[in-house]
Amino acid sequence: MAPVREILVMVSLLKASLAVFSAAADKLELGYYSETCPNLEEILATSAKLKLAEAPTTPAAVVRLLFHDCFIEGCDASIMITSTPDNLAERDAEVNRDLAGDGFDAVVRAKAAVEAECPGVVSCADILVIIARNFIELTGGPSYPVLKGRKDGFISEAARVQDNLPGSTLNLHQLLRNFKSKGLDMEDLVVLSGAHTFGFAHCKQFHKRLYNFSRDRAMDPRLPPVFASSLKAACPERGDDPGLVLPFDPSTPFAFDNSYYKTLVAGNALLISDETLLAKRKTREMIREFARDEQKFYQEFGAAMQRLSSVGVKVGSDGDVRRDCTAFNR
Ligand code: HEM
Repeated sequence: MAPVREILVMVSLLKASLAVFSAAADKLELGYYSETCPNLEEILATSAKLKLAEAPTTPAAVVRLLFHDCFIEGCDASIMITSTPDNLAERDAEVNRDLAGDGFDAVVRAKAAVEAECPGVVSCADILVIIARNFIELTGGPSYPVLKGRKDGFISEAARVQDNLPGSTLNLHQLLRNFKSKGLDMEDLVVLSGAHTFGFAHCKQFHKRLYNFSRDRAMDPRLPPVFASSLKAACPERGDDPGLVLPFDPSTPFAFDNSYYKTLVAGNALLISDETLLAKRKTREMIREFARDEQKFYQEFGAAMQRLSSVGVKVGSDGDVRRDCTAFNR
């Protein structure tokens, strides 16, 4: 066992690193670019609108991209980096291969629009956080203030992804442990999972629930029969197209609303990680409340997105402002 003095040193180091984490997030400001890029919000609002008109799948793609960015190295646009012969970057990790191209494209275009007016000033990390909020608003969801001043990170490694991102077969306990490791709690988990109110999942993400659930059961017994039949019809046991996707919320797959929670209450959760949110009384109550009260969900979602967007942020010389979001500055 480590001597007491060593343990005390470890505890104080841990405290110091937590202090650095929250101190960095505390340095973010609403008006960070008010002198250097006063029209930033308008530029990004227009950019999001143009992209949405072209590709309605973009909002969900961008919001997922933000989540995957923030959970690895913090919200520092590390997800945007393209791999080179010397570095396999985050976006090429197995679990990130399905991130939709429209998400990356939305950030690249937004950055180009910003650079045309304010060159070299606005970080890709801030752009991703701001346009995620814009797309949520454009699809009917809440608006919320975005603090700014994040810097872009210097590290993007595929090898760091797997252990930090929660998988679709995790149970509630495992999801909570993952969220806690990012400074987020049970409420954040239930509220942020509400982002599954828009967007799609590939059949492979829930295939096991339909055909190969456990040693004694072919199918997940929690799946209601009618829902299971519709999933099976869309995702056959063999020979299915790997590109096949189904909406999380079939009623309004492109709208940000509270119908994700209605599908959960009805038992029609697509992923095990969605279904498992019903496992505790506390989380079940939240789900029922959000299914009943859309405004309550919106209010809490906006606040939780602000917490998500603060995870592991870098300020000052811990990062820089990339000229091109997909490559480190040289
Ligand atoms: C709680 C743990 C979570 C797990 C296990 C999880 C897992 C997944 C999986 C497996 C997909 C389908 C990917 C595919 O097949 O292409 C997906 C899609 C999505 N996720 Fe999550 N997710 C989680 C939390 C979140 C959070 C916190 C957000 C955002 C705040 C989010 C936003 C999205 C969105 C918007 C989509 C749809 C993407 C699209 O259509 O392009 N997810 N998620």
